[in-house]
Amino acid sequence: MCALRAAQLGLKTTLVEEAKVGGTCLNWGCIPTKALYSATRLLAQAVDAEDMGLSFAPPSIDLVQLASWKDGVVDTLVRGIDTLLEKNGVTVLRTRGRLSAPGRVALATGDALEAERIVLATGSEAVEIPPFPFDHPAVWSSDDALAMREIPKRLAVIGGGVIGLELATIYRRLGSEVTVLELLPEILSTVDLDRRVVSTLKRALKSQGITVLTATAAAGVESTDAGTFLKAGDDERIPVDRILVAVGRRPRTRDLGLEACGVDLDERGFVAVDEGWGTSVAGVYAIGDLIGGAMLAHKASAEGVCLAESWVGEPHSIDLDGIPQAIFTDPEIASVGWSEARAKAAGRAVLVGRFPYAALGKALGMREPHGFFQVVADANDHRILGAQIVGAEASDLISEAAVAVQASLPIEAVADAVHPHPTLPEGLKEAAENALGRAIHTVNR
Ligand code: NAI
Repeated sequence: MCALRAAQLGLKTTLVEEAKVGGTCLNWGCIPTKALYSATRLLAQAVDAEDMGLSFAPPSIDLVQLASWKDGVVDTLVRGIDTLLEKNGVTVLRTRGRLSAPGRVALATGDALEAERIVLATGSEAVEIPPFPFDHPAVWSSDDALAMREIPKRLAVIGGGVIGLELATIYRRLGSEVTVLELLPEILSTVDLDRRVVSTLKRALKSQGITVLTATAAAGVESTDAGTFLKAGDDERIPVDRILVAVGRRPRTRDLGLEACGVDLDERGFVAVDEGWGTSVAGVYAIGDLIGGAMLAHKASAEGVCLAESWVGEPHSIDLDGIPQAIFTDPEIASVGWSEARAKAAGRAVLVGRFPYAALGKALGMREPHGFFQVVADANDHRILGAQIVGAEASDLISEAAVAVQASLPIEAVADAVHPHPTLPEGLKEAAENALGRAIHTVNR
């Protein structure tokens, strides 16, 4: 994004990429996950629609075709970016680069590039934990899980975070018996979510047959004649076929020439940057997962675009609190801004409104009655501080709240806006009305 925007703005731009353009999100993250999420959602709906009077023959899964369709979605988007780069005049060098001196990038081809400004955007990589190396035959990284080469009968997922739960959802729908092991007392604890949102998801995971073991340490893997076992907790041996390790991601800072050039890292190993994404070396910038904060593609894109624009116009910044997040579990979870707990911890008096999917005509017609909308606003000036949605299509529904948070709109802006009926976004309006004590379709608190 940074390269494209810089080129659009007339800067002579070169992109150094050793793999395919599009990075983790497009090639090994968001896009393949969402393709598999939608395919397996269809599968789950087809096997469970008898109360609607619909029944189908048991579905069969052609794994080769599923993987190839998913790869096709990725390839189409990669080709699209290649075309955009070409049409915007970005020179793409298909090789590895490393900083060799301020203003200079050494290429694996032996050549070197000189540039007035260098942007580091090498992203992140999955964290490996010692008893479960990714080269162990029973251990999967998220890349292995997304390759879709097999459907393990029994899948253990280490890490009840975003990646672990998204992939647990996909493999459960494909028929795996899934057990999630989370070290901390709660799942999704790295995300600022209302506890009601998390408990709604936990109930749903249980009803889907996904076992979640919290406060459980995964100790090791043991292969015997009787099969493979995951050693967990005090003395537990869980029979498994594959173990997916999803315990977080770390910045890809190795072998970039950072130390030699004097680019400082922070105490957690991320590249340290100032408000304008400048590193400790003049003319060297860093964006995205490499600098920490939310590891989200849309945050990285926004940073890249803002940075490029800051070179040719007025410097501007991004409201990090206004960046929404969507988690593709069943039901989906999406959030933006502050949770009620965070707002209260910051000493703010708040208005909070909720509205259940079960009271939305559209949701019932979609057979999606689970979940709710929640809006949090400042009790004094009524500005919307945040929103959380757990339920069908939450990932799409959060954008209205994101606009409200980013534009500092008062809660009346959402409550008073006429929304089309019957639609899911009505839930956000109803939650806003509920916060103001004037909801019509729920009992006001
Ligand atoms: P995460 O930080 O979301 O979750 C990792 C989980 O593993 C944590 O709950 C942690 O307590 C647990 N854990 C750590 N060590 C453990 C151990 N030894 N045994 C058991 N549990 C252990 O990290 P995740 O899921 O790997 O995702 C990485 C990053 O990518 C996150 O920042 C996430 O937000 C981002 N991401 C976001 C997506 C989205 O927004 N839809 C999709 C995929 C990734």
